[in-house]
Amino acid sequence: MRGPCAAVRGAPGHPARLSGRGTFVIEKRIGIIMHGVTGRMGTNQHLVRSILEIRKQGGVALKDGTRLMPDPILVGRNAAKVQELARQHGVSRWTTDLAKALNSKSDAVFFDAASTQLRPTLLKRAIAAGKHVYCEKPVSTNLAEALSLYRAAKKARVKHGVVQDKLWLPGLLKLQRLRDSGFFGKILSVRGEFGYWVFEGDPQSAQPPAQRPSWNYRSEDGGGIILDMLCHWRYVLDQLFGGVKAVSCRGATHIPYRWDENGKKYRATADDAAYASFELAGGAIAHFNSSWTVRVRRDDLLTLQVDGTRGSAVAGLRRCWTQSLDATPKPVWNPDIPQPINFFEGWTEEPDDPAWGNAFKTQWELFLRHVAGEGPFRWGLMEGARGVQLAELGLRSWKRRRWVTVPTLRA
Ligand SMILES: NC(=O)c1ccc[n+]([C@@H]2O[C@H](COP(=O)([O-])OP(=O)(O)OC[C@H]3O[C@@H](n4cnc5c(N)ncnc54)[C@H](O)[C@@H]3O)[C@@H](O)[C@H]2O)c1
Repeated sequence: MRGPCAAVRGAPGHPARLSGRGTFVIEKRIGIIMHGVTGRMGTNQHLVRSILEIRKQGGVALKDGTRLMPDPILVGRNAAKVQELARQHGVSRWTTDLAKALNSKSDAVFFDAASTQLRPTLLKRAIAAGKHVYCEKPVSTNLAEALSLYRAAKKARVKHGVVQDKLWLPGLLKLQRLRDSGFFGKILSVRGEFGYWVFEGDPQSAQPPAQRPSWNYRSEDGGGIILDMLCHWRYVLDQLFGGVKAVSCRGATHIPYRWDENGKKYRATADDAAYASFELAGGAIAHFNSSWTVRVRRDDLLTLQVDGTRGSAVAGLRRCWTQSLDATPKPVWNPDIPQPINFFEGWTEEPDDPAWGNAFKTQWELFLRHVAGEGPFRWGLMEGARGVQLAELGLRSWKRRRWVTVPTLRA
């Protein structure tokens, strides 16, 4: 079944439209098959805050002055759900027939934000159909599959991208700016605190319903915080602070039972917390706590503290504070008196850059430009594979109770 086909702007002759300033702009359509968009990430981050926002702003500006206009077709198993999503957001094309969508010549890109376990099969089908592919992380649940996806895309000469959204969070962009300015001196360590309390979902209790999908807590369904979060920490560390050389990870399943979307009690078979240390190229040590069983008393759901010889910074998702060596207080240990130093003073907030937008949207724009032939895009399937590699080695480290070396993966 397929929804009515859009009266597509820009297809195939790239017609002109009048811009806000009264000048004509050429619009070039790019068809995107969006799979898994009825899910949490698919709807909020990818459809609403990225693709529909890009459409609202009049597409992505290309160097020659044309605007690349994404034209999504929503794909899902449940016709009623997909149709309703399309209706709510004014998207004219939707279908439950993935094979037909992949066969269509009018859509150049396949995007997937559905279940992790299904991703390799779906991406392989899309690659075989000659589509450029873009997808959520993790690209797969194991390194062998992740590498085979990279090879398939390379062989088919299609363009590929994997979501690495944290890199474009304003808080992390500020850390990157500080690093580039030499603010930190030599970076010594990076501490990451990620997490919040995820409710168990017991419908009989007075607690709110669970705010994450139940598959996250079942390893047989591709769940687990190590697989989920070590993918993120890999690209954050590799790209901002030094390549990850070794990992020591201890996972835990702190909450043994939870309740699913239908109110049914199930056994949590996947890890819901991970305590992981990393050795980085260049000598810095990183340690990240990731947990769905922790209560927040810090600036944000993710905070990163970077300590260097010349200064330190603490970043949340959006805000970031610094303390230089000159502003560093000299505490003296004395538990017999109230602490005389207010440690929250003496930090300076980093200014915002108004050019920074939603992190997912920013990466989408870079990917679409790349597909249009503009600009390199380093965040492809090999980067995705590196994330899966670290998660796999993190799980191995936990199982064997020892440090594990991270072998270099080369494209
Ligand atoms: N980048 C990030 O920060 C981030 C955050 C959360 C999740 N994710 C990733 O995004 C993906 C989706 O996670 P979510 O939290 O949105 O999950 P979700 O459960 O909310 O959504 C999953 C979607 O996949 C669909 N789906 C599941 N099984 C399917 C099947 N067999 N056939 C077709 N469709 C199927 C569901 O209908 C739903 O639309 C996962 O791979 C997850 O790891 C990324």
